[in-house]
Order: sequence, then structure tokens, then C-alpha cells
Amino acid sequence: MREPHALVTGAAGFIGSHLVDRLIDSGASVTGVDCFTDYYDPSLKRANLARAMTSPRFRLMELDLGAADLGALPEADVVFHQAAQAGVRASWGAEFAAYTHHNVLATQRLLERYRGAKLERFVYASSSSVYGDAERYPTAEDSVPRPFSPYGVTKLAGEHLALLYSRNFDLPVVALRYFTVYGPRQRPDMAFHRFARALLRGEPIVIYGDGCQSRDFTFIDDAIESNLRAWKHAAPQAVYNVGGGSQVEVLEAIRILERALGAKAELRFEPRPPGDPLRTRADAARIERDLGFRPATPIARGLEAEAEWARGLYAEARR
Ligand code: NAD
Ligand code: UGA
Repeated sequence: MREPHALVTGAAGFIGSHLVDRLIDSGASVTGVDCFTDYYDPSLKRANLARAMTSPRFRLMELDLGAADLGALPEADVVFHQAAQAGVRASWGAEFAAYTHHNVLATQRLLERYRGAKLERFVYASSSSVYGDAERYPTAEDSVPRPFSPYGVTKLAGEHLALLYSRNFDLPVVALRYFTVYGPRQRPDMAFHRFARALLRGEPIVIYGDGCQSRDFTFIDDAIESNLRAWKHAAPQAVYNVGGGSQVEVLEAIRILERALGAKAELRFEPRPPGDPLRTRADAARIERDLGFRPATPIARGLEAEAEWARGLYAEARR
């Protein structure tokens, strides 16, 4: 039987690179697309792909989906669209242009490229940020989206674009709304990465607000599992929350990281930045019912894995 071919955009990023590894391990061949934006150090992205680059079943195409001729992208059985300008708090002011380019224009151009193609699924990486300060908790997929940051608006625009291409052209789109994903290779602008780095360097941890804000933090392996299930089992046009299964406050997560790294945090409190919701909590009923997906990694175990990875990363940097 022919091996399936997957196209992963944002392949060098945090989530995309884990997805690439998992797809290769499962026997697929993979084309990864990334333009190595400088939102964070591109050498971290090269490192994310180190294992994949040794596989004969992986090919990397370095191009900007928002600008390049996409005719060169291969036919595929499934597309996982992970590429985006991420980051909630940085999406104000002049930076917004990058968000519209990478999250809206790039998505529209990719959809045009695969419109009419024979895909099994086109999986769009959406975000809990489409809910913003949500109408209700836990938040179900049919809640009225009301983003709280410009980033959330662009992720919702991308999701709407993907779903309208699905309705107009039968592109089999599935949208996965991830809730704050963490684990090894987490982006350096995200909370747990910053906290672990500060603990390892003996620097203060900056907390926005009082630290009682909470997230439905989702471990990376669970986020990847949801993608594979979406490919194999989701109905076209379905939208799913992907949450970690519990609500954890930022201060609580810091206590767990302190234990994992054997260090005591010095806390510095700063005002809550605009765009930062106080709370996220996924209603997980739909994804459990339709895809049999249930997150498998409790926060303490997931944070230990991230702490272990961060220890390696920053020990290497000191050498
Ligand atoms: P990341 O920044 O680590 O990865 C995104 C990758 O996409 C980067 O390597 C970047 O270079 C690439 N990219 C950006 N624009 C591109 C373009 N125009 N052409 C080609 N490549 C491009 O981010 P991540 O945390 O891995 O997020 C992956 C996806 O998941 C994003 O769509 C993000 O919005 C979504 N998401 C992430 C989280 C989270 O907690 N990390 C939560 C919700 C949703
Ligand atoms: C994350 C991702 O960064 C977004 O790309 C994604 O779309 C979003 O999840 C989502 O779920 O949709 P965020 O929840 O802000 O966004 O993730 P973190 O950076 O891990 O922040 C978690 C909490 O820690 C936030 O309340 C933030 O204010 C707080 N934080 C962050 C601090 O207190 N200090 C820091 O140094 C960093």
C-alpha cells in the first residue's frame, strides 16, 4: 500500500515540528513548509526539525505562504495548516500587519492552492483565542466567538476562511481550537518556557496580573493526537476544542515548575497586558464524543517533561 503523504505548514515551529515527527513515525511521508520568521530565534526552529531532517521521508520547503508561488507545493492526502504568527500579547500596533499577512492572507492563499484538490482532510490550527473572554465556561464550540486580542481576530478570520472554502468547494476542512499548548519545544515567548528559563538562570519570573488567571493548558502530545484523529475520523466542517482537561492557575503552574527544577522563584508582578483573557476552559464533550479524544497528560507530568527539555536547552547554551 502507498504511504500517505502529509503537508505540514509551520513545520519548524513548536506544534508543527512535533506533528512532523509523529507523522514520520507513523509511516507517512511529509512535506514541511516554513519560512522561519524571526518572531523568535530561527535556530530554535532548525533544532526542532533536526530529527526530521535525517529521515528520507521528510522534505522541507522554505517559503512564505503569504507571498511565494504556491504552485510548487505537492499534491497531498492531508494538509495540516499550523503556520501562523502566534502570540496574543504582541498583536497590537504595527505588529498587526504581520498577523494579517501570516494568519489571514497566507491561509487564503493555501486554501486557493488546495481548492479542488483531492484531500482526505485539511486541518486548520485554530485557537481558544477566538473565544476571548468567553460568554460561558466551560466554553463549547457553538459559543459566540468574541476575540479579545487582534491575534484572536486573525485566527478567527483564518478559521472562517477555511470553513467557507469547505462549504463552497467541498474542501474537507476540520478546525481544531487548541487551548494554550505546552511541552518540549514550546515557543520562548510563552509562559512556561519563560518561567523555566528564569528558574534555571536564577532570574525573576514576571507575572502579569495577580497570577490567578487560568488556562486549560494542553500538553503537546495530546494536541498532536487530536490532529491525527481529526484527519482520520472528523467530519468535514467540524470545529473542535482541544483542551488539556483541567483548569490551572499560573501561580499553581509555577509551584509545579519549582519542584520539577529544584529552584525557588522570585516573583515580580506587572499589570495584566491588554488582550490577555483571565480564563480559558474547554468544553470537551464534542471531541470526546466524535473523535474519542481525551487528553492523557496531567499538568504535573507535562510540566516535568517541559522542565527536563528546558534544562537540556539552557545547559547547552551555557556550554
Ligand atoms: P510557532 O511560531 O512555533 O510555529 C509557527 C511556524 O509557522 C513558525 O515556525 C513560523 O516560521 C511559521 N510560519 C509563520 N508564517 C508563515 C508563512 N507565512 N509561511 C510559512 N511559514 C510560516 O507557533 P506554535 O505555537 O507552534 O503554533 C502553531 C499553530 O497553532 C499556530 O497556527 C497557532 O496560531 C496555533 N495555536 C497555538 C497555540 C499554542 O499554545 N502554542 C494555541 C492555540 C493555537
Ligand atoms: C497561548 C499561545 O501563545 C497562543 O498562540 C494561543 O493562540 C493561545 O495560547 C490559545 O490558547 O489560543 P497564552 O494563553 O497567552 O496564549 O499562553 P502563555 O504565553 O503560555 O500565557 C499563559 C498565561 O501566563 C497568560 O495569562 C499570561 O498572561 C501569563 N504569563 C505569560 C505571565 O504571567 N508571565 C509571562 O512571562 C508570560
